[in-house]
Amino acid sequence: MTTMRLKNKTAVVTAAGQGIGRATAERLRDEGASVFASDLQPALLDDFDGVDKAGLDATDPDAVAAYMARFERIDVLVHAVGYVHQGTIEECSLEDWRRSATITLDSAFHVLSAAIPKMKEHGGSIVCIASVVSSIKGLPKRAAYGAMKAGVIGLTKSVACDYLPFGIRCNAVCPATVDTPSLRMRIDELAEQMGDRSKAEEFFIQRQPTGRFGTPEEIAGLCAYLASEESNLITGQAISIDGGIMI
Ligand SMILES: NC(=O)c1ccc[n+]([C@@H]2O[C@H](COP(=O)([O-])OP(=O)(O)OC[C@H]3O[C@@H](n4cnc5c(N)ncnc54)[C@H](O)[C@@H]3O)[C@@H](O)[C@H]2O)c1
Repeated sequence: MTTMRLKNKTAVVTAAGQGIGRATAERLRDEGASVFASDLQPALLDDFDGVDKAGLDATDPDAVAAYMARFERIDVLVHAVGYVHQGTIEECSLEDWRRSATITLDSAFHVLSAAIPKMKEHGGSIVCIASVVSSIKGLPKRAAYGAMKAGVIGLTKSVACDYLPFGIRCNAVCPATVDTPSLRMRIDELAEQMGDRSKAEEFFIQRQPTGRFGTPEEIAGLCAYLASEESNLITGQAISIDGGIMI
């Protein structure tokens, strides 16, 4: 159900070109927020109406600082950038590890540290898209991914603690497997390795007791709740939205 609970709020969403970031930016817009949507691939934003659009590489600290400088005030920040490396620790090269750290963890550092000064005066809500996968629940072939998302959860808790006196809340949303373009790419990769598309899809589906993928819109609903004042008592939490994995 959509309400106008984010009316008069300024919401900044990274990785808003597709998948969870896009669905969240759409939902925040539909709930009345002025949405500033950015993505590494700005062309993905071309068909996104009713929002401010910008190309932004969240791994570039100077670009992030310049982008955030335009805001006098940010009420809601959703940081959705992340990178999935598929593999055990032995299958993860130092280059894979560093790429995972740069995209998933460094980007969170750059984006949150640049946005927080714009939230301190009046408070606000930060939502980091983390993951349940190998950060909360061990799952196969997610060594680097799990480590970096665990880092995002740690940063979330630390920010929640340090900025509670400023009225800033910070929570991590932890999905399991959500049907997005990047998931489809991972299924394709696995299908090639296995030589069987339906087995590859089944590998991902069987991880979720509900027996289906989540939808980006389901994740967006939780993000909108956390962005809104309805969730004012919730901060520093890593909230699983995972089709029953954590039962
Ligand atoms: N899809 C899932 O199953 C799933 C599960 C748990 C967590 N997540 C997390 O949700 C987030 C979104 O994933 P998704 O699958 O919805 O999206 P996706 O991977 O399909 O799309 C990601 C978007 O991020 C953008 N992007 C990539 N690098 C960027 C950068 N350096 N700066 C700015 N934008 C960048 C891409 O251009 C793309 O538009 C990620 O953090 C991911 O780890 C996804």
